[in-house]
Amino acid sequence: MKIIMLGAPGAGKGTQAKMIAEKCGIPHISTGDIFRANIKNGTELGAKAKGYMDQGLLVPDELVCDLVVDRIQQADCEKGYILDGFPRTIPQAKALEEALNAIGQKLDFALDIEVSDEHIINRMSGRRACVGCGATYHVIFNPTKVEGVCDICGDTLILRDDDKPETVEKRLEVYHSQTKPLIDFYAAENILAEIDGTQSMEKVFEDIMKILGV
Ligand code: AP5
Ligand code: MG
Ligand code: ZN
Repeated sequence: MKIIMLGAPGAGKGTQAKMIAEKCGIPHISTGDIFRANIKNGTELGAKAKGYMDQGLLVPDELVCDLVVDRIQQADCEKGYILDGFPRTIPQAKALEEALNAIGQKLDFALDIEVSDEHIINRMSGRRACVGCGATYHVIFNPTKVEGVCDICGDTLILRDDDKPETVEKRLEVYHSQTKPLIDFYAAENILAEIDGTQSMEKVFEDIMKILGV
């Protein structure tokens, strides 16, 4: 099963993608996580991406497309995958389509998690991310067992640099102008499914399972 996740920053793409990946036994590929891991490891790609990310802007398409096209051709993607945070622009969607056509594959589902902007701004201030493994939590909706400590790896939780309110606003602006057009793009391909992302995490997951027929 080949799935892409659409939705505004903070809509819950990462939260749901992780659960779907576990349930379906396919890899969860998050371009945001890939960039954050590169920043943490001090790579050249990380250095290039950081400036854009900190400002809430998109990293240029040419730094993203090859990376993803390469990743989805690795052995663990044979049964499918979930792309979280890619594609994010029409050129990225076209690059993906072209790459898939070349290897005789196509996407099965584009899941759009719908959450209003006001809702997002409230949500983001409560998100905490693990510096060690990248797991995400929420101080109210998905707290860790011990405050400030990752349940999975025991490392420290932080508020992501780009989750400051002014940067979240910029990310929302970028989302509306550059990413939202993908909804019509995938509707035209007949693979779009919309989910109400303001429900509880469990209910959102339940709705997604129904759509996937799992
Ligand atoms: P990325 O990491 O992809 O960030 P994003 O799209 O802004 O999305 P988030 O990860 O912030 O939100 P999410 O939807 O995953 O929500 P989550 O599940 O965490 O990208 C970061 C940056 O990298 C970009 O700004 C860009 O610069 C660059 N980048 C990445 N990909 C790129 C690309 N393809 N092209 C160019 N640049 C790219 O949930 C949010 C919070 O809400 C959490 O605390 C969670 O616990 C909580 N929550 C989740 N669901 C619920 C619920 N149902 N009810 C209550 N709380 C909930
Ligand atoms: Mg995410
Ligand atoms: Zn961790």
